[in-house]
Amino acid sequence: MGNLETRNRYFDELANTPGLIWMGQNTNHIPAHPAVSEAMVRSVEAQEHNAYAPPLGFEALRRAIVADLGVAGMSALVTEGGVNAIAAVCRATARPGTTLVTTDPTWKWPCIFARQMGAEVVQIPIYDPKQDFKLSPARLAAEVDERTAIIYLVDPNNPLGVRYDRDEIVLFAEIAKSVGALLVHDCTYRDFATGHTPVLEVAPEGTVVTVSFSKWLGLAGMRIGAVLASPDLVEVFAEQSSSVLGASVIAQRGAMAGLEVKPEWIGEVRRITRENNRMLAVRARELGLGVPIPESHGNFMIFETGPLGITPEALVEAARREGVMIRHGRYHSEGFGDRFIKVSTSVPAEWAEVLCQELPRFIETARSLNDVPELF
Ligand SMILES: Cc1ncc(COP(=O)(O)O)c(C=O)c1O
Repeated sequence: MGNLETRNRYFDELANTPGLIWMGQNTNHIPAHPAVSEAMVRSVEAQEHNAYAPPLGFEALRRAIVADLGVAGMSALVTEGGVNAIAAVCRATARPGTTLVTTDPTWKWPCIFARQMGAEVVQIPIYDPKQDFKLSPARLAAEVDERTAIIYLVDPNNPLGVRYDRDEIVLFAEIAKSVGALLVHDCTYRDFATGHTPVLEVAPEGTVVTVSFSKWLGLAGMRIGAVLASPDLVEVFAEQSSSVLGASVIAQRGAMAGLEVKPEWIGEVRRITRENNRMLAVRARELGLGVPIPESHGNFMIFETGPLGITPEALVEAARREGVMIRHGRYHSEGFGDRFIKVSTSVPAEWAEVLCQELPRFIETARSLNDVPELF
């Protein structure tokens, strides 16, 4: 309980820091498309929030989500963020005696949800340049067996920014099928990637895709995402979802407007993000940080602090004191988290420039920090 209170105060302080430069949670701070803001304002003005949304989501939004992923015939359940999509899947699938198999690094919350259901978590290390920082089908095949209930694949991987090829996705789905496991393809960052293949496109049975409006559309605080799968599977997940009264009406209006303007919006978001990635990678190298994965398919990059003899935590704390939020690796990985920081880049170019400019100072401060308070 004490730890939860400390964690809450940590985020409360960040959220209440005027002008904070949020570059730690892969959120999107590029000015919103006016149509998206207008849709949400109109919804508030019409007091739509007085009523509940349909339990599975507005039909128009469900259709638009399926069309956006390009998987006709599949069904979508709108959830309060991608996190609740995955929570419902874990609740429906994980049991004592089963395993959830994923990578290290991965996104930690599905592991926690699976453990809450009594399942065991198996993590396959991928932080290795010799493996291109990726999971290979052979290594996955070696770790799954008849106990495997869920294979959880984050693609592009947060925090590494690697993404999988179509052939690899096909093989992962075959491996899942061979042991009767559900392949959960977390596609939260797909809109930042080049050449991404959602598993439902190549193997629509026994597979699931989760998506989010937090990152590409900048709606993290609105809490909206979805799970897509065959209609029978979506029904099973919906029955296990705790969001039985639907997701936010206002968020759904924003999401619908977002999908409509996506073709004219996403290109610019990607351009700004890529340019920030490039600028930060150049600066990090100049300053002696390690840049193990120079081409990220995500709206984030990792930089290794080891070459400078400082810890990720010290650097994150030094930046926090100056109003810049970046993330330490341990949030992402028990095995490799002491090696890197993660910086999120779907932000105005000026923010990335501030970080580039201030980084030498943060590094200097980090060198003198002995007692770093707990970070989350
Ligand atoms: C890999 C991954 N999946 C899912 C999410 C959940 O996003 P949300 O619940 O905001 O839609 C995140 C958020 O950081 C993430 O990194």
